[in-house]
Amino acid sequence: EKDGHDWFMRKEIFEQPRAVADSLLGRRGADGQLQLDEMRLSDQDLRDVDKIIIIAAGTSFYAGMVAKYAIEHWCRIPVEVELASEFRYRDPILTSDTLVVAISQSGETADTLQAIRHARVQRSKVLAICNTNGSTIPRESDGVIYTHAGPEIGVASTKGFLTQLVACYLLALYLAQIKGTRYGDEISQVMDQLEQMPAHIETVLSKSEEVYALARDHVGSRSVLFLGRHAGYPVALEGALKLKEIAYLHAEGFAAGELKHGPIALVEEGLPILCVVPPRGRDQLHDKMISGIQEVRARGARTLCLAEEGDTAIEPYADVLFTLPQVPVLLQPLVAVVPLQLFACELATQLGHDVDQPRNLAKSVTVE
Ligand code: F6R
Repeated sequence: EKDGHDWFMRKEIFEQPRAVADSLLGRRGADGQLQLDEMRLSDQDLRDVDKIIIIAAGTSFYAGMVAKYAIEHWCRIPVEVELASEFRYRDPILTSDTLVVAISQSGETADTLQAIRHARVQRSKVLAICNTNGSTIPRESDGVIYTHAGPEIGVASTKGFLTQLVACYLLALYLAQIKGTRYGDEISQVMDQLEQMPAHIETVLSKSEEVYALARDHVGSRSVLFLGRHAGYPVALEGALKLKEIAYLHAEGFAAGELKHGPIALVEEGLPILCVVPPRGRDQLHDKMISGIQEVRARGARTLCLAEEGDTAIEPYADVLFTLPQVPVLLQPLVAVVPLQLFACELATQLGHDVDQPRNLAKSVTVE
């Protein structure tokens, strides 16, 4: 049942090319237009949307952070991303033109469910992004985009996360199509790029031994930091969460630009810092990231860098370099998170932990 793997988690990491491909299947109509079968919200409803609030917990929240970047960039609709457990308690401003997007792998997370109930009372429209057919959250939503990860058994979410990302990109492109903020050929170009992602993820997985060796080198580490910028920031947060949940290791993710505002004080000789380097050539993201990496390295950090193939500028500053396929910055989380999943899985295995059943955690959190 684990297909020869030691853990469900590892099996599920390796299933990601298939899960991503399945989640993309059947989304392009014969006319080239995007279609989302269970959207159920009318085009007019969606055209009226003037604000989007994404609510989710844990890993699903990080998918929401990526969604914000994609939706704002492609659709020019303001997006807030909020932790489900915080949402109701701050008296959020909701109207009938607010679209609330609830992201939940299980569809049963109590905090997220209570948040959508609150939103519906305020007459906002609710769209669920969910992996579990017929679960409570999609049942109580106006529309749903199902991800097709298949059952996720490992408590730590992996393929659930990647397929949520896919659903978020599809939602963003669909809204762009309806709102007319992007032309059809641009949308189909991104769809083409998305359809290449399973092969890119496969490429990353084919280098798993490289990541495992790195994990084995860090069995004695007491703390690991993760840095990212833009869409790489949620990836850094997710990499840190994986390490906390299954390896019980202190780990923290930061937006690289925030380092100088405090966290850089943590850096000491030999501290491992995993750096998610954005692709080259957009704004100054890449160069800014490199200067952040230089800063921590100058203070003794050991820099473990994930950077796109051909990025020679990073070489002098990377103690370890893992190359990622060349993909657009917004889609980079789909490849960049995979080595971080493998890293946490292998490190936890080396430490002798039960990777599939980490202490104190449950697969679906049905208490508030
Ligand atoms: C992390 C993890 C949790 C879940 C969170 C939300 O690996 O699994 O952080 O992401 O509990 O769960 P869902 O998506 O089922 O609402």
